[in-house]
Amino acid sequence: MNKNFYITTPIYYPSAKPHMGHAYSSIIADFFARIKKIQGYNVFFLTGTDEHGQKIQRAAEKANKDPLKFCDEISKTFKDLSSTLNLSNNDFIRTTENRHFKSVENLWNILEKKKEIYLSKYSGWYSVSDEAFYTEDEIENINGKKISKSSGSTVEWVEEESFFFKLSKWQEPLLKFYSDNPKFILPETRKNEVVSFVKSGLKDLSVSRKSFSWGIKVPSNKDHVIYVWLDALTNYLSALNYPNENDEKFKEFWPADLHLIGKDILRFHAVYWPAFLLAADIKPPKRVYGHGWILSGDEKMSKSKGNILDPIEIINNYGLDPLRYYLLKEVSFGNDGNISKDKLESCINSDLANNYGNLCQRVITFCEKNIGLEIPKFDTFNEDDLSILNNFDNNLKKLDQEVNNQNINFYVEFVVDQLFKANKYFNDQAPWGKKDEPDRLKTIVYVSLELIRKISILLYPIIPNTSLKVLNIFSINENEIKFDSISNNEYLRPKKKILKLDILFKKIENND
Ligand code: MSP
Repeated sequence: MNKNFYITTPIYYPSAKPHMGHAYSSIIADFFARIKKIQGYNVFFLTGTDEHGQKIQRAAEKANKDPLKFCDEISKTFKDLSSTLNLSNNDFIRTTENRHFKSVENLWNILEKKKEIYLSKYSGWYSVSDEAFYTEDEIENINGKKISKSSGSTVEWVEEESFFFKLSKWQEPLLKFYSDNPKFILPETRKNEVVSFVKSGLKDLSVSRKSFSWGIKVPSNKDHVIYVWLDALTNYLSALNYPNENDEKFKEFWPADLHLIGKDILRFHAVYWPAFLLAADIKPPKRVYGHGWILSGDEKMSKSKGNILDPIEIINNYGLDPLRYYLLKEVSFGNDGNISKDKLESCINSDLANNYGNLCQRVITFCEKNIGLEIPKFDTFNEDDLSILNNFDNNLKKLDQEVNNQNINFYVEFVVDQLFKANKYFNDQAPWGKKDEPDRLKTIVYVSLELIRKISILLYPIIPNTSLKVLNIFSINENEIKFDSISNNEYLRPKKKILKLDILFKKIENND
């Protein structure tokens, strides 16, 4: 079995500092990276910044800064955010790096050599904000302004010499690729949109611009810079040291297992990207998942609308793990979601403090008072014990399958359900009433500690800091967290010391 797993986030435009939408893409990717890691995969998790193009050039001009200096500063805020979010990424790529230039130039040269690119003239609509070309049908006139129907961003008329990629030629091969790889695009609804877009007819794609200079030059014609999306998408290869196809990293990790992106950039990833790759004789990625947006009120967040939610502010007020938990649990994955203070606070109080925090605190305090801070020796498990313990092993395969379909909601619901069940088990078994049955009392505590261990492992991809705090009391460190060990009902060794546990989550008092 191939035990490598390559996952990517989109690379972010450093045109302004990061917001909650960016944090969302990254946290979701981290969830998958961490779960694969504890399943024993050799994971490569990539994120970074997309630094070329007219959008960045204009933003730098507006700030009166040299574009590279401008990118250096803002890219750093994205890199810092990766640490603040506790991402487990292995690399952070910037498209202004040398390694990336080499990859893009190489891919361009292959496409040109294979006669997939030709020189002509582009005249049509362009949105600098989306870095996208739009046809007449895709734009509308609002208050005398031409805007893109899909994104609402302003478009401008562009007329210039341009290189074109023969996208039209790849219409049929793409349709065949989608039908041979029915899970290439998820969720299903988005796949249908893409397929009908491709079926409606693909036009050749302008892949160079002449009217500005901030980008990678076309190797054979330095008057042109390569279209920023062709440049940006190639980051997924350059981080693997492409064009060196003999490089171990490339051999191990390409094709990527999962490009996690927002739904607004699906066309670039699910149409243009596989077309470029097929044309260059490189395998397309295995999956592109287009998630929904984090809305501010009813609208997508954007700098121009001035409705940005700042992840750092929320983390400073509530902590990182509550934010991660909220985004993974409360946003139905694949759909748009919202962050509200009330819902976030209720998540912290009821799920994190009452459900998880309380379970850990109660069981460990009881253990300390009655047995001492060590794993008790247990007697035979009875039916109640086995029914709750085995529930994990019985569902592990299913959990794995659902995770492989990016069904985060199934995973989180399963964990929350186990938390409820574990609390109920402890209540129902009432070990405080079993002081004259010491073997049974110890067995109940043992089972409860096992439940805490299993649940904490499942929580690791969601709230890694807190999960580690709990696992540390059993002296399980990060490298020792194994998904498969959840099946083992007797992992904890009797007589082993347990460490004390501080309060995990403080409840938020509602003063309203
Ligand atoms: N630079 C391109 C991606 C190139 S990938 C080869 C880009 N950058 S972006 O900074 O505008 O957006 C990056 C990601 O953040 C996209 O997946 C986008 O969907 C996501 N989000 C931006 N705003 C968002 C929300 N409000 N909610 C959720 N994600 C959204 O596009």
